[in-house]
Amino acid sequence: MPGIRGPSDYSLEPPRHPCLQINSKEPFNAEPPRSALVSSYVTPVDLFYKRNHGPIPVVDDIERYFVDICGLIETPKKLYMRDIRALPKYNVTATLQCAGNRRTAMSKTRKVRGVGWDVSAIGNAVWGGAKLADILELIGIPKLASSTESSGKHVEFVSIDKCKEENGGPYKASIPLIQATNPEADVLLAYEMNGETLNRDHGYPLRVIVPGVIGARSVKWLDSINIIAQECQGFFMQKDYKMFPPSVDWDNINWSTRRPQMDFPVQSVICSLEDVQSIKPGKVTISGYAASGGGRGIERVDVSIDSGKTWVEASRFQKTGIPYIADHISSDKWAWVLFEVTVDIPKSTEIVAKAVDSAANVQPEKVQDIWNLRGILNTSWHRVHVLVGHSNM
Ligand code: MTE
Repeated sequence: MPGIRGPSDYSLEPPRHPCLQINSKEPFNAEPPRSALVSSYVTPVDLFYKRNHGPIPVVDDIERYFVDICGLIETPKKLYMRDIRALPKYNVTATLQCAGNRRTAMSKTRKVRGVGWDVSAIGNAVWGGAKLADILELIGIPKLASSTESSGKHVEFVSIDKCKEENGGPYKASIPLIQATNPEADVLLAYEMNGETLNRDHGYPLRVIVPGVIGARSVKWLDSINIIAQECQGFFMQKDYKMFPPSVDWDNINWSTRRPQMDFPVQSVICSLEDVQSIKPGKVTISGYAASGGGRGIERVDVSIDSGKTWVEASRFQKTGIPYIADHISSDKWAWVLFEVTVDIPKSTEIVAKAVDSAANVQPEKVQDIWNLRGILNTSWHRVHVLVGHSNM
């Protein structure tokens, strides 16, 4: 592909923030400390988690870079950055969460396969770019179309990186055409993150952002967009990022029995405390994040200081000075909600958080009930232990 290339080794990786906890060096997978997530509503770019399946691509000549739009359409088209920048620009505040967030904790109950993550494979950013619905209109696919004249029903995003799961081929994923052509779904081809040009780790020069859906579908370093009849047959759609019941193991798995995961379920995590933490007795402010998929807001966050016997409601907020109301016009529908509550803790105990979304979905209590062999979507109640000491702390 002119202007951009996917290296086959890790000698050209970008510099990264020293604060990141590295979960895998090659490919580079890292997350920030918990405290960084609740320090600001919009996560700084250098502290945003990085999830890769291969070496980071290199742009040699941005002028020559283009996205190829092909497949089941009348006239294939090449779109250069200047064509994409000429379309109306939208800023969408959206939370990206890896389906593997909190995998390490799931693996503790029964081993799962995959890169281990604590609770920070999630971040909230302001993505700037063109709407995919506008781009598809340029090539003759009208808004809100669920099929093209030649029976294209899905939009596949193909990258330029080289992934071993694809036998050295590129990362890819797809979404239904109806979602891609719906301007309200806010699917973007983003070239900016938090007001700056996208950096290499996050998909420079162009990536897809699919709000409300697991991060795996937001393909970075876009090479081509393919209009296809059936969903993408790539590894990450068909042999990964699917949710199986606890009874399925590596000996009896049949991948084709399940759909690729799209929306993420309701989640909440305490970020102001580590799993086990010593504190002084008295008032403690507990804070964290809550998020749900599909544009559903957060209706409530409950916090317990007695392992879930009794609960208090935390306050929720997004932007300072604007009260957060789930699913209200004033709220960022694709973004997380931060929560906070001050409680009195006289003795050692277990603190728990659980969220309820605007469809009244609630997080499951026990990780065992949602255990799955790939360790995805651990949304069980988040628990931390505090050890209360009375002297010299
Ligand atoms: N796109 C490409 N081309 N290659 C990848 O490895 N990883 C996906 C997605 N897009 C990936 C990709 C996964 S699993 C996630 S969770 C998000 O990118 C992570 O995006 P980030 O690194 O910008 O946080």
